[in-house]
Amino acid sequence: MFSANLKLHPDFTIGTVERRLFGGFVEQMGRHIYGGIHEPGHPTAGPDGFRRDVVGLVRELGITAVRYPGGNFVSGHDWEDGVGPVADRPRRLDLAWHSLETNEVGLHEFSDWLDLVGADLVLAANLGTRGTREALQLLEYANVPGGTARADERRKNGREEPFDVRMWCLGNELDGDWQIGQKNADDYGKLAAVTARAMRAVDADLELAACGSSWRGMPTFGVWERTVLEHAYDQIDYISCHSYYHEEDGDTASFLASGADMEDCIESVVHTIEHVRAVKRSKRRIDIAFDEWNIWYQDPNEIDVTSWPVAPRLLENQYSVTDAVAFGGLLITLLKHADRVKAANLAQLVNVIAPIMTEPGGPAWRQTTFHPFAATARLARGTALQGVLDAPTVSTAKYGEVPVLDAVATIDGDRAAVFVLNRSLEESASLTVDAGLLGVDGPVRAQGIWDTDRHAKNTLEAPDRVTLRENTSIAREGGTVSVELPPMSWTCITIGGV
Ligand code: AHR
Repeated sequence: MFSANLKLHPDFTIGTVERRLFGGFVEQMGRHIYGGIHEPGHPTAGPDGFRRDVVGLVRELGITAVRYPGGNFVSGHDWEDGVGPVADRPRRLDLAWHSLETNEVGLHEFSDWLDLVGADLVLAANLGTRGTREALQLLEYANVPGGTARADERRKNGREEPFDVRMWCLGNELDGDWQIGQKNADDYGKLAAVTARAMRAVDADLELAACGSSWRGMPTFGVWERTVLEHAYDQIDYISCHSYYHEEDGDTASFLASGADMEDCIESVVHTIEHVRAVKRSKRRIDIAFDEWNIWYQDPNEIDVTSWPVAPRLLENQYSVTDAVAFGGLLITLLKHADRVKAANLAQLVNVIAPIMTEPGGPAWRQTTFHPFAATARLARGTALQGVLDAPTVSTAKYGEVPVLDAVATIDGDRAAVFVLNRSLEESASLTVDAGLLGVDGPVRAQGIWDTDRHAKNTLEAPDRVTLRENTSIAREGGTVSVELPPMSWTCITIGGV
Protein backbone atom coordinates (compact mmCIF):
# COMPACT_ATOMS: atom_id res chain seq x y z
CA MET A 1 0.00 0.00 0.00
CA PHE A 2 1.26 3.48 -0.78
CA SER A 3 0.14 6.81 0.68
CA ALA A 4 -1.11 9.82 -1.20
CA ASN A 5 -2.65 13.18 -0.40
CA LEU A 6 -4.96 15.47 -2.34
CA LYS A 7 -5.32 19.09 -1.24
CA LEU A 8 -8.42 20.93 -2.38
CA HIS A 9 -9.02 24.65 -2.30
CA PRO A 10 -12.16 26.37 -3.62
CA ASP A 11 -10.04 28.99 -5.40
CA PHE A 12 -8.13 26.43 -7.48
CA THR A 13 -10.82 26.46 -10.13
CA ILE A 14 -10.45 24.96 -13.59
CA GLY A 15 -13.77 25.98 -15.09
CA THR A 16 -17.49 25.38 -15.20
CA VAL A 17 -18.51 21.78 -15.80
CA GLU A 18 -20.74 22.24 -18.85
CA ARG A 19 -23.64 19.79 -18.94
CA ARG A 20 -22.68 19.19 -22.57
CA LEU A 21 -19.58 17.39 -21.30
CA PHE A 22 -21.87 14.42 -20.79
CA GLY A 23 -23.03 14.16 -24.36
CA GLY A 24 -23.47 10.95 -26.34
CA PHE A 25 -23.29 10.01 -29.99
CA VAL A 26 -25.76 8.00 -32.04
CA GLU A 27 -24.59 6.95 -35.47
CA GLN A 28 -26.95 5.46 -38.02
CA MET A 29 -25.01 2.17 -38.15
CA GLY A 30 -24.91 -1.42 -36.92
CA ARG A 31 -27.63 -2.22 -34.40
CA HIS A 32 -27.50 1.23 -32.90
CA ILE A 33 -30.86 2.49 -34.10
CA TYR A 34 -32.49 -0.53 -35.71
CA GLY A 35 -32.61 -3.32 -33.14
CA GLY A 36 -31.13 -1.02 -30.50
CA ILE A 37 -33.14 2.03 -29.63
CA HIS A 38 -35.84 1.23 -32.23
CA GLU A 39 -37.41 -2.20 -32.28
CA PRO A 40 -41.12 -2.22 -33.17
CA GLY A 41 -42.73 -5.31 -31.68
CA HIS A 42 -40.36 -5.46 -28.73
CA PRO A 43 -42.37 -5.96 -25.49
CA THR A 44 -41.25 -2.56 -24.16
CA ALA A 45 -41.65 -0.64 -27.45
CA GLY A 46 -44.15 2.20 -27.62
CA PRO A 47 -46.35 2.83 -30.68
CA ASP A 48 -43.37 4.76 -32.11
CA GLY A 49 -41.24 1.60 -32.05
CA PHE A 50 -38.79 2.96 -29.48
CA ARG A 51 -37.83 0.57 -26.71
CA ARG A 52 -38.77 2.06 -23.36
CA ASP A 53 -36.28 -0.12 -21.48
CA VAL A 54 -33.52 1.55 -23.51
CA VAL A 55 -35.05 4.99 -22.94
CA GLY A 56 -34.94 4.30 -19.17
CA LEU A 57 -31.28 3.30 -19.30
CA VAL A 58 -30.28 6.31 -21.40
CA ARG A 59 -32.01 8.58 -18.86
CA GLU A 60 -30.21 6.81 -16.03
CA LEU A 61 -26.91 7.25 -17.86
CA GLY A 62 -27.45 11.01 -17.74
CA ILE A 63 -26.73 11.83 -21.37
CA THR A 64 -27.38 15.54 -21.99
CA ALA A 65 -26.95 15.99 -25.76
CA VAL A 66 -26.60 13.58 -28.66
CA ARG A 67 -24.54 14.04 -31.81
CA TYR A 68 -26.36 12.53 -34.82
CA PRO A 69 -26.46 10.92 -37.44
CA GLY A 70 -22.70 10.20 -37.68
CA GLY A 71 -19.76 9.62 -37.70
CA ASN A 72 -18.51 8.21 -40.93
CA PHE A 73 -22.12 7.61 -41.96
CA VAL A 74 -22.86 11.32 -42.29
CA SER A 75 -20.30 11.82 -45.07
CA GLY A 76 -22.42 9.81 -47.53
CA HIS A 77 -25.83 10.71 -46.18
CA ASP A 78 -28.60 12.77 -47.77
CA TRP A 79 -30.66 14.15 -44.88
CA GLU A 80 -33.71 14.44 -47.16
CA ASP A 81 -33.87 10.62 -47.28
CA GLY A 82 -34.83 10.56 -43.60
CA VAL A 83 -37.83 12.91 -43.72
CA GLY A 84 -41.35 12.63 -45.14
CA PRO A 85 -43.63 9.58 -45.10
CA VAL A 86 -41.67 6.55 -43.91
CA ALA A 87 -43.14 4.34 -46.64
CA ASP A 88 -41.71 6.63 -49.31
CA ARG A 89 -38.18 6.79 -47.93
CA PRO A 90 -35.43 5.35 -50.10
CA ARG A 91 -33.19 2.47 -49.13
CA ARG A 92 -29.57 3.44 -49.70
CA LEU A 93 -26.15 1.87 -49.62
CA ASP A 94 -24.20 3.10 -46.61
CA LEU A 95 -20.65 3.04 -47.90
CA ALA A 96 -19.10 3.89 -44.55
CA TRP A 97 -20.21 0.63 -42.89
CA HIS A 98 -21.09 -1.42 -45.99
CA SER A 99 -24.71 -1.70 -44.87
CA LEU A 100 -28.17 -0.97 -46.19
CA GLU A 101 -29.85 2.08 -44.66
CA THR A 102 -33.66 1.90 -44.71
CA ASN A 103 -34.17 5.46 -43.42
CA GLU A 104 -37.06 4.21 -41.30
CA VAL A 105 -35.75 6.42 -38.51
CA GLY A 106 -34.76 9.91 -39.59
CA LEU A 107 -34.60 13.41 -38.18
CA HIS A 108 -38.20 13.64 -36.91
CA GLU A 109 -38.24 10.24 -35.26
CA PHE A 110 -34.84 10.74 -33.72
CA SER A 111 -35.85 14.10 -32.30
CA ASP A 112 -38.97 12.47 -30.78
CA TRP A 113 -36.69 9.88 -29.18
CA LEU A 114 -34.49 12.64 -27.75
CA ASP A 115 -37.60 14.13 -26.15
CA LEU A 116 -38.16 10.78 -24.45
CA VAL A 117 -34.59 10.59 -23.13
CA GLY A 118 -34.43 14.30 -22.28
CA ALA A 119 -31.35 15.23 -24.33
CA ASP A 120 -30.58 17.94 -26.90
CA LEU A 121 -29.92 17.28 -30.56
CA VAL A 122 -26.48 18.10 -31.99
CA LEU A 123 -26.63 17.75 -35.78
CA ALA A 124 -23.74 16.85 -38.04
CA ALA A 125 -23.91 18.16 -41.61
CA ASN A 126 -22.47 16.19 -44.51
CA LEU A 127 -19.42 18.07 -45.79
CA GLY A 128 -17.95 14.93 -47.32
CA THR A 129 -20.07 14.28 -50.42
CA ARG A 130 -22.14 17.44 -50.02
CA GLY A 131 -21.49 21.07 -49.23
CA THR A 132 -22.65 24.49 -48.08
CA ARG A 133 -25.93 24.46 -50.03
CA GLU A 134 -27.17 21.20 -48.49
CA ALA A 135 -26.08 22.23 -45.00
CA LEU A 136 -28.09 25.44 -45.43
CA GLN A 137 -31.12 23.53 -46.61
CA LEU A 138 -30.94 21.24 -43.58
CA LEU A 139 -30.59 24.28 -41.32
CA GLU A 140 -33.61 25.91 -42.94
CA TYR A 141 -35.61 22.71 -42.56
CA ALA A 142 -34.58 22.27 -38.93
CA ASN A 143 -34.56 25.79 -37.53
CA VAL A 144 -36.64 28.26 -39.56
CA PRO A 145 -40.12 28.56 -38.01
CA GLY A 146 -42.05 28.67 -41.30
CA GLY A 147 -42.84 30.58 -44.47
CA THR A 148 -39.97 29.14 -46.53
CA ALA A 149 -39.95 26.07 -48.74
CA ARG A 150 -37.88 23.86 -46.42
CA ALA A 151 -39.48 25.07 -43.21
CA ASP A 152 -42.96 24.48 -44.65
CA GLU A 153 -41.89 21.05 -45.81
CA ARG A 154 -41.00 20.26 -42.17
CA ARG A 155 -44.42 21.51 -41.04
CA LYS A 156 -46.11 19.41 -43.72
CA ASN A 157 -44.13 16.46 -42.38
CA GLY A 158 -45.82 16.90 -39.01
CA ARG A 159 -43.47 19.14 -37.08
CA GLU A 160 -44.97 22.61 -36.61
CA GLU A 161 -42.28 23.97 -34.29
CA PRO A 162 -38.65 24.12 -35.47
CA PHE A 163 -36.18 21.63 -34.02
CA ASP A 164 -34.10 24.66 -33.06
CA VAL A 165 -30.77 22.81 -33.13
CA ARG A 166 -28.16 25.00 -31.43
CA MET A 167 -24.96 23.04 -31.96
CA TRP A 168 -23.77 21.77 -35.36
CA CYS A 169 -20.78 19.73 -36.49
CA LEU A 170 -19.31 20.80 -39.82
CA GLY A 171 -18.68 17.32 -41.21
CA ASN A 172 -16.83 14.39 -39.68
CA GLU A 173 -13.17 13.28 -39.67
CA LEU A 174 -12.48 14.71 -43.11
CA ASP A 175 -8.72 14.23 -42.67
CA GLY A 176 -9.09 10.44 -42.81
CA ASP A 177 -8.67 8.32 -45.96
CA TRP A 178 -11.57 6.13 -44.75
CA GLN A 179 -13.86 9.14 -44.90
CA ILE A 180 -16.08 9.47 -47.96
CA GLY A 181 -15.11 12.85 -49.39
CA GLN A 182 -11.77 13.11 -47.57
CA LYS A 183 -10.18 16.53 -48.02
CA ASN A 184 -6.90 18.22 -47.38
CA ALA A 185 -6.77 20.76 -44.56
CA ASP A 186 -6.88 23.78 -46.89
CA ASP A 187 -9.91 22.58 -48.80
CA TYR A 188 -11.74 21.54 -45.65
CA GLY A 189 -10.83 24.74 -43.79
CA LYS A 190 -12.20 26.87 -46.64
CA LEU A 191 -15.36 24.77 -46.87
CA ALA A 192 -15.91 24.91 -43.09
CA ALA A 193 -15.43 28.68 -43.13
CA VAL A 194 -17.84 29.44 -45.97
CA THR A 195 -20.41 26.98 -44.66
CA ALA A 196 -20.21 28.42 -41.15
CA ARG A 197 -20.49 31.99 -42.48
CA ALA A 198 -23.56 31.10 -44.51
CA MET A 199 -25.16 29.22 -41.60
CA ARG A 200 -24.59 32.23 -39.35
CA ALA A 201 -26.39 34.39 -41.90
CA VAL A 202 -29.46 32.28 -41.12
CA ASP A 203 -28.88 32.26 -37.35
CA ALA A 204 -25.99 34.22 -35.82
CA ASP A 205 -26.20 32.36 -32.50
CA LEU A 206 -25.49 28.84 -33.74
CA GLU A 207 -22.61 27.01 -32.09
CA LEU A 208 -20.42 25.51 -34.77
CA ALA A 209 -17.75 22.84 -34.45
CA ALA A 210 -15.17 22.28 -37.18
CA CYS A 211 -13.42 18.93 -37.58
CA GLY A 212 -10.06 18.58 -35.92
CA SER A 213 -7.93 15.52 -36.55
CA SER A 214 -9.46 12.04 -36.37
CA TRP A 215 -6.96 11.24 -33.65
CA ARG A 216 -3.65 12.44 -32.32
CA GLY A 217 -1.79 9.74 -34.27
CA MET A 218 -2.72 11.17 -37.66
CA PRO A 219 0.40 12.30 -39.56
CA THR A 220 -1.27 15.67 -40.15
CA PHE A 221 -2.23 16.21 -36.47
CA GLY A 222 -1.41 19.78 -35.47
CA VAL A 223 -0.93 21.05 -39.02
CA TRP A 224 -4.54 20.08 -39.81
CA GLU A 225 -5.87 22.03 -36.80
CA ARG A 226 -3.66 25.03 -37.53
CA THR A 227 -4.71 25.18 -41.19
CA VAL A 228 -8.42 24.70 -40.49
CA LEU A 229 -8.29 27.37 -37.78
CA GLU A 230 -6.43 29.78 -40.06
CA HIS A 231 -9.34 29.56 -42.50
CA ALA A 232 -12.28 29.28 -40.15
CA TYR A 233 -11.21 30.92 -36.87
CA ASP A 234 -13.66 33.81 -37.07
CA GLN A 235 -16.61 31.61 -38.00
CA ILE A 236 -16.48 28.66 -35.61
CA ASP A 237 -16.83 28.13 -31.86
CA TYR A 238 -15.22 24.73 -31.43
CA ILE A 239 -12.66 22.48 -33.01
CA SER A 240 -13.22 18.77 -32.44
CA CYS A 241 -10.98 16.11 -30.92
CA HIS A 242 -11.53 12.36 -31.25
CA SER A 243 -9.75 9.62 -29.24
CA TYR A 244 -10.32 5.91 -28.80
CA TYR A 245 -8.19 3.69 -26.57
CA HIS A 246 -7.80 -0.03 -25.95
CA GLU A 247 -5.54 -2.37 -24.04
CA GLU A 248 -2.81 -3.48 -26.43
CA ASP A 249 -0.62 -6.58 -26.13
CA GLY A 250 -1.38 -6.95 -22.42
CA ASP A 251 0.12 -3.54 -21.63
CA THR A 252 -2.36 -2.71 -18.88
CA ALA A 253 -0.17 -0.02 -17.30
CA SER A 254 -0.16 2.08 -20.49
CA PHE A 255 -3.87 1.46 -21.03
CA LEU A 256 -4.68 2.81 -17.57
CA ALA A 257 -2.59 5.88 -18.43
CA SER A 258 -4.64 6.62 -21.59
CA GLY A 259 -5.71 9.87 -19.92
CA ALA A 260 -2.12 11.08 -20.39
CA ASP A 261 -2.53 10.76 -24.15
CA MET A 262 -5.96 12.41 -24.09
CA GLU A 263 -4.48 15.23 -22.03
CA ASP A 264 -1.66 15.69 -24.51
CA CYS A 265 -4.19 15.81 -27.33
CA ILE A 266 -6.27 18.48 -25.55
CA GLU A 267 -3.26 20.58 -24.61
CA SER A 268 -1.74 20.38 -28.10
CA VAL A 269 -5.01 21.52 -29.66
CA VAL A 270 -5.39 24.33 -27.11
CA HIS A 271 -1.86 25.51 -27.92
CA THR A 272 -2.66 25.40 -31.63
CA ILE A 273 -5.84 27.42 -31.09
CA GLU A 274 -3.89 29.98 -29.10
CA HIS A 275 -1.14 30.13 -31.73
CA VAL A 276 -3.66 30.95 -34.46
CA ARG A 277 -5.41 33.41 -32.15
CA ALA A 278 -2.08 35.17 -31.53
CA VAL A 279 -1.23 35.37 -35.21
CA LYS A 280 -4.68 36.76 -35.96
CA ARG A 281 -4.58 39.17 -32.98
CA SER A 282 -8.06 37.83 -32.28
CA LYS A 283 -10.13 38.27 -29.16
CA ARG A 284 -12.33 35.38 -30.18
CA ARG A 285 -12.26 32.26 -28.05
CA ILE A 286 -12.38 28.80 -29.60
CA ASP A 287 -12.93 25.78 -27.35
CA ILE A 288 -12.76 22.03 -27.83
CA ALA A 289 -15.69 19.74 -28.59
CA PHE A 290 -14.32 16.29 -27.73
CA ASP A 291 -17.10 14.84 -29.80
CA GLU A 292 -15.92 11.22 -29.98
CA TRP A 293 -14.15 9.38 -27.16
CA ASN A 294 -14.32 5.88 -25.76
CA ILE A 295 -12.62 2.51 -25.41
CA TRP A 296 -12.71 0.68 -28.76
CA TYR A 297 -11.20 -2.70 -29.74
CA GLN A 298 -11.15 -2.30 -33.51
CA ASP A 299 -11.51 -5.39 -35.66
CA PRO A 300 -10.58 -4.55 -39.26
CA ASN A 301 -12.22 -7.77 -40.51
CA GLU A 302 -15.66 -7.43 -39.01
CA ILE A 303 -17.23 -5.59 -41.94
CA ASP A 304 -18.55 -8.04 -44.53
CA VAL A 305 -17.80 -6.37 -47.86
CA THR A 306 -19.58 -9.08 -49.83
CA SER A 307 -23.10 -8.07 -48.78
CA TRP A 308 -25.22 -5.07 -47.76
CA PRO A 309 -27.01 -6.14 -44.58
CA VAL A 310 -29.54 -4.06 -42.67
CA ALA A 311 -28.39 -3.36 -39.10
CA PRO A 312 -25.60 -5.95 -38.86
CA ARG A 313 -23.84 -6.60 -35.56
CA LEU A 314 -20.92 -4.17 -35.77
CA LEU A 315 -18.50 -2.82 -33.15
CA GLU A 316 -20.32 -4.71 -30.39
CA ASN A 317 -17.45 -4.53 -27.91
CA GLN A 318 -18.02 -6.06 -24.49
CA TYR A 319 -16.26 -4.06 -21.82
CA SER A 320 -14.35 -5.41 -18.83
CA VAL A 321 -13.58 -4.05 -15.39
CA THR A 322 -10.21 -2.83 -16.70
CA ASP A 323 -11.96 -1.02 -19.55
CA ALA A 324 -14.32 0.68 -17.09
CA VAL A 325 -11.42 1.81 -14.89
CA ALA A 326 -9.49 3.25 -17.87
CA PHE A 327 -12.75 4.84 -19.09
CA GLY A 328 -13.27 6.47 -15.68
CA GLY A 329 -9.76 7.87 -16.07
CA LEU A 330 -10.75 9.47 -19.40
CA LEU A 331 -13.69 11.18 -17.67
CA ILE A 332 -11.24 12.56 -15.09
CA THR A 333 -9.09 13.94 -17.92
CA LEU A 334 -12.09 15.66 -19.53
CA LEU A 335 -13.03 17.25 -16.20
CA LYS A 336 -9.44 18.37 -15.63
CA HIS A 337 -9.77 20.37 -18.84
CA ALA A 338 -13.22 21.78 -18.18
CA ASP A 339 -11.83 25.24 -18.96
CA ARG A 340 -11.38 24.36 -22.64
CA VAL A 341 -13.37 21.19 -23.27
CA LYS A 342 -16.85 22.63 -23.36
CA ALA A 343 -18.62 19.71 -25.03
CA ALA A 344 -17.87 16.00 -25.26
CA ASN A 345 -19.65 13.00 -26.73
CA LEU A 346 -19.19 9.43 -25.60
CA ALA A 347 -19.04 7.39 -28.80
CA GLN A 348 -21.40 5.64 -28.90
CA LEU A 349 -24.59 4.87 -26.93
CA VAL A 350 -26.40 1.60 -27.72
CA ASN A 351 -24.87 -1.68 -29.01
CA VAL A 352 -22.11 0.04 -31.04
CA ILE A 353 -19.07 0.51 -28.71
CA ALA A 354 -21.73 1.34 -26.20
CA PRO A 355 -22.50 1.58 -22.49
CA ILE A 356 -25.91 -0.01 -23.19
CA MET A 357 -26.49 -3.34 -24.93
CA THR A 358 -29.72 -4.92 -26.16
CA GLU A 359 -30.87 -8.27 -27.40
CA PRO A 360 -33.62 -8.44 -30.07
CA GLY A 361 -36.87 -9.28 -28.29
CA GLY A 362 -34.88 -9.55 -25.07
CA PRO A 363 -33.41 -7.39 -22.35
CA ALA A 364 -31.23 -4.30 -22.33
CA TRP A 365 -28.33 -4.04 -19.90
CA ARG A 366 -25.57 -1.81 -18.62
CA GLN A 367 -21.99 -2.47 -19.68
CA THR A 368 -19.20 -1.91 -17.13
CA THR A 369 -18.47 1.53 -18.62
CA PHE A 370 -22.06 2.62 -17.96
CA HIS A 371 -21.33 2.97 -14.26
CA PRO A 372 -18.46 5.50 -14.20
CA PHE A 373 -20.24 7.57 -16.83
CA ALA A 374 -23.58 7.66 -14.99
CA ALA A 375 -21.91 8.44 -11.66
CA THR A 376 -19.79 11.24 -13.13
CA ALA A 377 -22.71 12.77 -15.05
CA ARG A 378 -24.75 12.73 -11.85
CA LEU A 379 -22.09 13.97 -9.44
CA ALA A 380 -19.72 16.25 -11.41
CA ARG A 381 -21.56 19.53 -11.20
CA GLY A 382 -20.76 23.19 -10.76
CA THR A 383 -17.07 24.03 -10.97
CA ALA A 384 -14.14 21.72 -11.58
CA LEU A 385 -11.28 22.10 -9.09
CA GLN A 386 -7.65 21.26 -9.68
CA GLY A 387 -6.32 19.55 -6.56
CA VAL A 388 -2.69 19.39 -5.55
CA LEU A 389 -1.89 15.70 -5.62
CA ASP A 390 1.05 14.21 -3.79
CA ALA A 391 1.46 10.63 -5.02
CA PRO A 392 4.21 8.36 -6.37
CA THR A 393 4.60 7.68 -10.07
CA VAL A 394 4.29 4.50 -12.10
CA SER A 395 6.23 3.51 -15.25
CA THR A 396 4.42 2.92 -18.50
CA ALA A 397 5.84 1.73 -21.81
CA LYS A 398 3.86 4.25 -23.85
CA TYR A 399 3.79 7.37 -21.69
CA GLY A 400 6.83 7.06 -19.43
CA GLU A 401 6.42 7.94 -15.74
CA VAL A 402 2.90 9.03 -14.88
CA PRO A 403 1.36 9.78 -11.47
CA VAL A 404 -0.01 6.54 -10.04
CA LEU A 405 -3.19 8.38 -9.08
CA ASP A 406 -5.14 10.81 -11.19
CA ALA A 407 -7.79 12.98 -9.60
CA VAL A 408 -10.12 15.92 -10.06
CA ALA A 409 -12.83 17.46 -7.89
CA THR A 410 -15.99 19.43 -8.48
CA ILE A 411 -17.92 21.69 -6.17
CA ASP A 412 -21.54 22.71 -6.44
CA GLY A 413 -23.03 24.60 -3.51
CA ASP A 414 -22.97 22.38 -0.46
CA ARG A 415 -21.68 19.28 -2.26
CA ALA A 416 -18.23 18.33 -3.47
CA ALA A 417 -17.25 15.29 -5.49
CA VAL A 418 -13.80 13.82 -6.00
CA PHE A 419 -12.98 11.39 -8.81
CA VAL A 420 -9.84 9.27 -8.46
CA LEU A 421 -8.12 6.67 -10.61
CA ASN A 422 -5.63 4.25 -9.04
CA ARG A 423 -3.37 3.06 -11.87
CA SER A 424 -1.35 0.69 -9.72
CA LEU A 425 -1.87 -2.92 -10.81
CA GLU A 426 -0.88 -4.34 -7.43
CA GLU A 427 -1.08 -1.75 -4.70
CA SER A 428 -3.90 -0.11 -2.82
CA ALA A 429 -3.61 3.59 -2.07
CA SER A 430 -4.20 5.11 1.32
CA LEU A 431 -5.55 8.48 0.21
CA THR A 432 -6.26 11.48 2.39
CA VAL A 433 -8.20 14.37 0.93
CA ASP A 434 -7.81 17.76 2.61
CA ALA A 435 -11.25 19.17 1.92
CA GLY A 436 -11.69 21.43 4.97
CA LEU A 437 -11.32 24.66 2.98
CA LEU A 438 -14.18 23.73 0.65
CA GLY A 439 -16.70 24.56 3.34
CA VAL A 440 -18.89 21.55 2.58
CA ASP A 441 -20.28 19.55 5.42
CA GLY A 442 -22.28 16.36 5.80
CA PRO A 443 -21.76 12.68 5.13
CA VAL A 444 -19.07 11.20 2.93
CA ARG A 445 -19.49 8.30 0.55
CA ALA A 446 -17.19 6.45 -1.84
CA GLN A 447 -18.29 4.19 -4.68
CA GLY A 448 -16.24 2.71 -7.44
CA ILE A 449 -15.24 0.05 -9.90
CA TRP A 450 -12.70 -2.64 -8.98
CA ASP A 451 -12.74 -6.42 -8.94
CA THR A 452 -10.53 -9.40 -8.18
CA ASP A 453 -11.31 -10.51 -11.74
CA ARG A 454 -10.26 -7.55 -13.87
CA HIS A 455 -11.63 -9.29 -16.99
CA ALA A 456 -15.18 -9.57 -15.60
CA LYS A 457 -17.86 -8.21 -17.95
CA ASN A 458 -21.59 -7.71 -17.96
CA THR A 459 -23.34 -10.02 -20.41
CA LEU A 460 -26.83 -11.08 -21.43
CA GLU A 461 -26.50 -13.96 -18.96
CA ALA A 462 -24.96 -11.91 -16.15
CA PRO A 463 -26.01 -8.30 -16.78
CA ASP A 464 -25.10 -7.02 -13.31
CA ARG A 465 -21.86 -8.88 -12.74
CA VAL A 466 -20.02 -5.54 -12.54
CA THR A 467 -21.68 -2.56 -10.87
CA LEU A 468 -20.63 0.37 -8.70
CA ARG A 469 -19.34 -0.96 -5.38
CA GLU A 470 -19.57 0.73 -2.01
CA ASN A 471 -16.15 1.52 -0.60
CA THR A 472 -16.72 1.23 3.13
CA SER A 473 -13.18 2.27 4.05
CA ILE A 474 -14.13 5.95 3.73
CA ALA A 475 -13.99 8.04 6.90
CA ARG A 476 -13.95 11.71 7.77
CA GLU A 477 -12.24 13.56 10.56
CA GLY A 478 -12.89 17.28 10.47
CA GLY A 479 -11.91 18.48 7.03
CA THR A 480 -9.87 15.38 6.18
CA VAL A 481 -11.41 12.49 4.30
CA SER A 482 -9.51 9.23 4.18
CA VAL A 483 -10.17 6.26 1.93
CA GLU A 484 -8.39 3.15 0.76
CA LEU A 485 -8.42 2.81 -3.02
CA PRO A 486 -8.07 -0.77 -4.31
CA PRO A 487 -5.46 -1.52 -7.00
CA MET A 488 -6.69 -0.76 -10.50
CA SER A 489 -9.77 1.12 -9.42
CA TRP A 490 -11.89 4.14 -10.26
CA THR A 491 -13.63 5.84 -7.36
CA CYS A 492 -16.04 8.71 -6.85
CA ILE A 493 -16.24 10.33 -3.44
CA THR A 494 -19.02 12.66 -2.40
CA ILE A 495 -18.75 15.07 0.49
CA GLY A 496 -21.90 16.67 1.90
CA GLY A 497 -25.00 17.77 0.05
CA VAL A 498 -27.48 15.12 1.08
O1 AHR B 1 -17.55 5.76 -33.64
C1 AHR B 1 -17.16 4.97 -34.73
C2 AHR B 1 -16.46 5.77 -35.81
O2 AHR B 1 -15.27 6.27 -35.29
C3 AHR B 1 -17.18 7.01 -36.29
O3 AHR B 1 -18.10 6.75 -37.28
C4 AHR B 1 -16.04 7.82 -36.86
O4 AHR B 1 -16.29 9.20 -36.80
C5 AHR B 1 -14.85 7.39 -36.03
O5 AHR B 1 -13.78 7.04 -36.83
